[in-house]
Amino acid sequence: MIATVMVAAALTCPQESKLQAMLPDVFAKSAAHYRAIDAAATPLMNARTPKKRNRPFDERQVPHGWMAKEGKLDMRSIYWWTSGHFPGSLWYLYEATGDGFFKDRATVWTEFVAPNSKVSDNHDVGFIMYCSFGNARRLLKTDRYDALLLETADSLSKRFNPDLGVIRSWGAISDNKNFLVIPDNMMNLEILEWAAKNGERGTGNGERGNAKRFDDIARSHSTKTMAHHFRADGGTYHVLNYDQRPGFLGAVQEIRRGQGLSCETAWSRGQSWAIYGYTMMYRETRDPAYLAFAQKVADFAINHPNMPADGVPYWDYGAPGEERDSSAASIMASGLLELSTFVKGDKGAKYRAFAVKQLLSLCSDEYFAKPGENGDWLLKHGVGHKPVGSEVDTPLDYGDYYFLEALLRVR
Ligand code: GLY
Repeated sequence: MIATVMVAAALTCPQESKLQAMLPDVFAKSAAHYRAIDAAATPLMNARTPKKRNRPFDERQVPHGWMAKEGKLDMRSIYWWTSGHFPGSLWYLYEATGDGFFKDRATVWTEFVAPNSKVSDNHDVGFIMYCSFGNARRLLKTDRYDALLLETADSLSKRFNPDLGVIRSWGAISDNKNFLVIPDNMMNLEILEWAAKNGERGTGNGERGNAKRFDDIARSHSTKTMAHHFRADGGTYHVLNYDQRPGFLGAVQEIRRGQGLSCETAWSRGQSWAIYGYTMMYRETRDPAYLAFAQKVADFAINHPNMPADGVPYWDYGAPGEERDSSAASIMASGLLELSTFVKGDKGAKYRAFAVKQLLSLCSDEYFAKPGENGDWLLKHGVGHKPVGSEVDTPLDYGDYYFLEALLRVR
């Protein structure tokens, strides 16, 4: 989520001036797109999807994407991992335009996903609840959602295994054969850091208070992930399977390609989650190890020989010439903008300039959709899960969310 980012003194380069000048128009067009999605989605929001999982709640639906062949909005259950991104984008549009319409609609869609606060069977509740309720709290300057956010942090923390030192991303808590962790999990730590600072505190007399444990978990997960989840060059694996057997506890028993091309290449969105996630962890903890690591994973991406000239990565760094993933670019741009505020001198300026280049590309006709196309989502050319042929070259709600966030960070 957007944080109060200190903007480097106005060392604005010509490309950034160009982007700044485009912002009012891009925000106005984005607002029109999202009004159209909201209008199409509202009559569908209470339609129930068939229950796939044993949930204690009704399965209501939130807009997620676009089914081009059917010409239909892709509505997903409120328990789908991206259900917080549409409400979150509405909050960013409220922030960008000041238009009360977006505040009202963001509030409705945000409150719709509230049942996720009780969910412990996946790590995505951090994304879901912090992109929606976290932004609501920040922009409405209210504490009325705090209990819900703290409950979410508690639900997420149940997936932490203290013996391994990491949160289980996928799979049942009771599975003692597989313990799967993905770099995307770094994004779900932000709500834990928020909870650590806003939950029950200690007395100041040495008693730590219940909330401190959330920070302990987030740091443990980040540090362990840093040690295991990346190759020496800073490129990420997608799925690690940690061993839970006594004697092997915490060892990596298996590497899976997951959403990437192979175990030897780096899946682009995973790399972007890492850039954003370690920058966020530095913001929250000021641990210099996280700042150094954020730069390492960022440098891997920026300097990769397969990074296209426009800064929008192929869906995997090992798949040059195949589809681009606009979501990998928008997440990376938002992360780099924040990273540039922590890194001094030429290196910080280089991160900012790269993010500006990415955003200029995403604002161009090649990526930014015209009204009425792309299901009215903002960015074309996202890739969800290429190895299984799911959501290839399509809009993605989270691509839009981090695009709007990045533009707000520029502004
Ligand atoms: N967190 C799942 C994805 O990035 O596709």
